[in-house]
Amino acid sequence: MDKKIVYSGIQPSGTLTIGNYIGALRNFPTLQEEYNCIYCIVDMHAVTAPQEPKVLRQHTLDILALYLAVGIDPEKSILYIQSHVPQHVELAWLLNTITGVGQLQRMTQFKDKSQRSNEILAGILNYPVLMASDILLYQTDLVPVGDDQKQHIELTRDLAQRFNSRYSETFKIPDMMAPKVGARIMSLQDPEKKMSKSDEDVNAFISMVDDDATIRRKVKRAVTDSEGVIRYSDSQKAIKNLIDIYASFSGKNPEEIVKAYDGQGYGILKEELAEVIIQGMGPIRDDFLEIRKDKEYLEKVYREGAEKASYFANKTLRKVYRKMGFIPR
Ligand code: TYM
Repeated sequence: MDKKIVYSGIQPSGTLTIGNYIGALRNFPTLQEEYNCIYCIVDMHAVTAPQEPKVLRQHTLDILALYLAVGIDPEKSILYIQSHVPQHVELAWLLNTITGVGQLQRMTQFKDKSQRSNEILAGILNYPVLMASDILLYQTDLVPVGDDQKQHIELTRDLAQRFNSRYSETFKIPDMMAPKVGARIMSLQDPEKKMSKSDEDVNAFISMVDDDATIRRKVKRAVTDSEGVIRYSDSQKAIKNLIDIYASFSGKNPEEIVKAYDGQGYGILKEELAEVIIQGMGPIRDDFLEIRKDKEYLEKVYREGAEKASYFANKTLRKVYRKMGFIPR
């Protein structure tokens, strides 16, 4: 039997954080032996927020370099840039014709984002439909993402089922795949908020390319709790978050970590946490800095990736057009 298909994407809307790494990216290379993996840089999603053109270009190439630095092999997996495969936008349009506006308005990410701006842009509302089209174009079985994408995956499943029941079996129904620990890493400055690459406060996140001194400084400045004890509990969200990060990088489980620091203060936990992060991120950051210099190689990877992705995208899109009653070209 053919290998199952894994699909995921990351927005080039900033420098990736250790939240992106723990929640999604670090699982990508480990899946490539068992599955056919397709990993995308979703630039069309990124422009739903204002982007400086020069910065968008840099972030797009940097995400590609990070994909390679974490060990995704372009001989095994497909790596490409979303805007290079225009079938995504075509399918998104078609899926919009079966999507309720109410359903999009109920998405938590839409509510959050629209509350923060004076004018609600149509692109933000339609964002999840484009994401559904990314996933459905490739007949995806599994989508490795962090917890914040759960609602989007549910919408994707819903749209696939709706299309299938209206026009007959066309799309595979995908499942979400989230890590056991670290599916939602929180801000280091406000444990009620998720860690985000677009946070205005740079102390709220650790970037995947921060140098060692910056990592130590940001961990040191992370907010803690008033109780002064190390416990893994929802009543101590800040410490719980630090333990989650520790667990993800060290491979230890949260209980072991709590036991190891029993009776000790936050200072020592933070000091050692910073070292564990540096050990995990350092080699990736160093590889990234080398790979990003090789513009020719990056171009080769994204061109070949787009060619391979287009083949699969076309196959699904042709089927969709035919089923809906469009005249083939
Ligand atoms: P994006 O670019 O915001 O984030 C990329 C991945 O990182 C995960 N993530 C986190 N995980 C744990 N803790 C956090 N604080 C954290 N912040 C982000 C996200 O869950 C995601 O897996 N809509 C998507 C991009 C997308 C996509 C797709 C994903 C577009 N099309 C198709 C999968 C399949 C997004 O905004 O991710």
